[in-house]
Amino acid sequence: MTPWYRTAVFYEVPVRSFSDGNGDGRGDFIGLISKLDYLQWLGVDCLWLLPFFPSPLRDGGYDISDYRGVLPEFGTLEDVRRLVEEVHRRGMRVIGDLVVNHTSSDHPWFQEARHPGSPKRDWYVWSETDQRFADARIIFIDTESSNWSWDEEAGAYYWHRFYSHQPDLNFDNPEVRAEVLDIVRFWLGLGFDGLRLDAIPYLIEREGTNCENLPETHDMIKEIRAVVDAEFPDAVLLAEANQPPKDVVAYFGEGDECHMCYHFPVMPRLFMSLRRQDVDKLTAILASTPPIPDGGQWAIFLRNHDELTLEMVTEEERQYMWDEYAPDRRMRLNFGIRRRLAPLLGGHRPAIELLHGLLLSLPGSPILYYGDEIGMGDNYLLPDRDGVRTPMQWDDSPTAGFSAADPADLFLPLVSTDGYRPAEVNVATQQGDEGSLLNWIRDLLAVRSHHPVFGIGDFEVVPVDDPAIFAFLRADSNEKVLVLANVSKDGRACPLDMEAAQALDVRSGERVDLSGLFLDGHEFRWLSID
Ligand code: GLC
Ligand code: CA
Repeated sequence: MTPWYRTAVFYEVPVRSFSDGNGDGRGDFIGLISKLDYLQWLGVDCLWLLPFFPSPLRDGGYDISDYRGVLPEFGTLEDVRRLVEEVHRRGMRVIGDLVVNHTSSDHPWFQEARHPGSPKRDWYVWSETDQRFADARIIFIDTESSNWSWDEEAGAYYWHRFYSHQPDLNFDNPEVRAEVLDIVRFWLGLGFDGLRLDAIPYLIEREGTNCENLPETHDMIKEIRAVVDAEFPDAVLLAEANQPPKDVVAYFGEGDECHMCYHFPVMPRLFMSLRRQDVDKLTAILASTPPIPDGGQWAIFLRNHDELTLEMVTEEERQYMWDEYAPDRRMRLNFGIRRRLAPLLGGHRPAIELLHGLLLSLPGSPILYYGDEIGMGDNYLLPDRDGVRTPMQWDDSPTAGFSAADPADLFLPLVSTDGYRPAEVNVATQQGDEGSLLNWIRDLLAVRSHHPVFGIGDFEVVPVDDPAIFAFLRADSNEKVLVLANVSKDGRACPLDMEAAQALDVRSGERVDLSGLFLDGHEFRWLSID
């Protein structure tokens, strides 16, 4: 039987940004529950909730101070239980985020560990010098200058791969490992259908290595998977490993690590192909992606809650992406671009549609980012990545229907750039407009749901003598779909050398003659072949 996550469409929701149910200006579980009918109407299968645990929120909740609780402004554990129930009642699923590479420095474990001689001392990674593990790169280069920070009270340096307020847990300690397995049991036991494993390449450090993807790290993931297989066999583990394809594939193990991994390198190359009007980089990265074990699945995405990361491209490509997509330096953050999908594409509807056409038909399960279905804008003047986490725009009222609070009391200001204000971009208006992006995406999701081949089928590139045309086949035992995508702004004839002469356009229901095909600028087609 096909595992559910291989045909699912995921939708990423930061609870804080989605809907405020109690009028304090910040999103919460009651608000999210009230919007589940919308998500069901849209046609998504599984929600991915960003961390909702107690946290000082210095890294959007990825700085956790209690792994079994709920941030009070979001609600209670009871609310989370109700959410899970309501999601399931609608035939959907929900996964959470397991952020265990590091904790917040506010976590009581770290506070205890700072005391020399404390039993928790060894739960973190300490050093007398800041020279150990010197081969490990710094990830948040805009804010951090070292992976070590001095702690006065501890009288030692502690190790952190991200912000200095996020000390890394010590996965060489058996108590830490046991605790993490218990956290997994806690949330899956509560009814979550899976967990995203945040920042998973960095669990273990070893001198003389770059401290990423180490065999000992993979051993820990295998321990997590063993618990899932034995106790929650229907749950999914999704690896966040921003690595080149050959290293990411290792996170599937031999089917004994994660069920899913994000395909990070594909994402920037989608944007590159579009701007260069040439699909060579995209086809090259797909060609260099090794096969994955049975039951495994890629997770693909266009945008998420982070910057559009450019770690997995060459320096020249990074410069190209920055020049083209982030001309204003304030749009840049670390090795990336802090912008949303619609503004990245200049609000150009055919380009937005084309990238969704690819997202929904390339190998893997697509993950949509909240708000991108209505073409929401961003605000890169806000600190860190807040500009892509602004309140969801439900209608054209002064708080965009996000909250009953005073607009001045929202946790982040609403988007206020021309063309993207709530009055111009919102769910209610688009629901009532048959030709809106929202209805277009909903229709596309509905079509995809009738063609499981996009989730489970084989992938084969069809050579076409035009660098702007990407043609590939998705095929399983039931069906064969030819996908054609024109990344050029201009219309192109599409010379195909195929055995079949005729096809059926699965979106329009039209019969298509494959010999004389022409694609408009940024057009894509899904063609079923006998
Ligand atoms: C992951 C999250 C990111 C966070 C980082 C450190 O990469 O996606 O938002 O800042 O981990 O916790
Ligand atoms: Ca609230």
